[in-house]
Amino acid sequence: MSAVPARCDDRHIVLVGMMGAGKSSVGRVVARALQRPLFDSDALIEARTGRTVREIWERDGEAAFRRIEAETLTDTLASQEPAVIAAAGGVVLSAENRAALAASGAHVVWLMANVDVLVDRVRNGPHRPLLDDDPEGTLRTMAADRAALYQQVADAVVSVDQRSVREVAQAVMRCAG
Ligand code: S3P
Repeated sequence: MSAVPARCDDRHIVLVGMMGAGKSSVGRVVARALQRPLFDSDALIEARTGRTVREIWERDGEAAFRRIEAETLTDTLASQEPAVIAAAGGVVLSAENRAALAASGAHVVWLMANVDVLVDRVRNGPHRPLLDDDPEGTLRTMAADRAALYQQVADAVVSVDQRSVREVAQAVMRCAG
């Protein structure tokens, strides 16, 4: 990663990071500002299956959910029009997904958050079954386990701590000049 941001005019902008980092809300602002479509992974998963993330998770299990998550990522990356993609927090867990991100040429931005900030923000939302038990402990473990993976896929890292959604979006859009 260099101090000069890589250009992203013709590339997808993919937001990755932990639950609560603000991928969806930042994605909305960036997509509107750059007049691009927004692909929000969890919303797309729910639209394509007609079921909620929780229903998929509870009836079919995590592995099934991860397969749909991977298909959704592949489909959105294949879109011809440069888009903003709010990837689900878990996409980096799979080596195939990480390879797909690298091969796509997308500009991947890690929205990095201090875990205390995530704990504060993430209430046990309906689409986050992973946080049903011990949300704080789970978030801390997941953040520690995943940090190297987010770093690995990222072309840029933007800290979200003490920044508004608009400020984070501005930082993400530096690649667009
Ligand atoms: C998950 C993140 C969630 C959702 C699911 C699993 C994860 O999405 O896909 O609960 O493993 O980090 P968000 O990152 O949009 O909250």
